[in-house]
Amino acid sequence: MQPDYRPLTPDCLDAMLALEQAAHSTPWSRQLLASCFSERYFSGSLWQGQTLLGFYIADQVLDESTLMNVCVTPPCQGRGLGRRLMTLYIESAMARQVSQLWLEVRESNQAARRLYLSVGFVEQGRRKAYYSSAQGREDAVIMQKAL
Ligand SMILES: CC(C)(COP(=O)(O)OP(=O)(O)OC[C@H]1O[C@@H](n2cnc3c(N)ncnc32)[C@H](O)[C@@H]1OP(=O)(O)O)[C@@H](O)C(=O)NCCC(=O)NCCS
Repeated sequence: MQPDYRPLTPDCLDAMLALEQAAHSTPWSRQLLASCFSERYFSGSLWQGQTLLGFYIADQVLDESTLMNVCVTPPCQGRGLGRRLMTLYIESAMARQVSQLWLEVRESNQAARRLYLSVGFVEQGRRKAYYSSAQGREDAVIMQKAL
């Protein structure tokens, strides 16, 4: 599979919301997704024809960027698309003169944590009991990558 890379636009919102709801246990709302088209954010997406396969959303403040969201449609997970999105994010951040990348991930999200480690993020700390979970609360793992 060789999907096309495209920037996200507000026209993509319906497809983003459907993918968000399919991929995440606690999905963002349409309103929250729509708020990420302001100047502070940048994003990218992978498509097969008219089908959205995955996207990332990041913000930038001065020379630092935080990855806000990355997801791949469940039927296409495990085929390298998440790594491709992370590579596109890193390349885009470098082109924007970003020097530090940050993200937070649920402690239990082993797939995402391994993906982030595989593209050079390192664990820098934790926010204790930050997220609600089926078991009660779980930590947010804070990860960072210097560019
Ligand atoms: C996290 C996510 C984006 C990964 O995307 P993906 O396309 O499935 O990942 P890839 O196929 O590119 O895999 C890249 C690496 O991630 C890790 N990984 C992916 N799926 C994994 C799994 N089920 N278990 C363990 N590690 C996994 C592996 O290190 C893998 O490298 P490898 O194939 O060489 O072992 C995807 O699982 C997803 O959308 N999850 C739901 C949303 C989410 O949790 N987003 C992150 C928090 S915002």
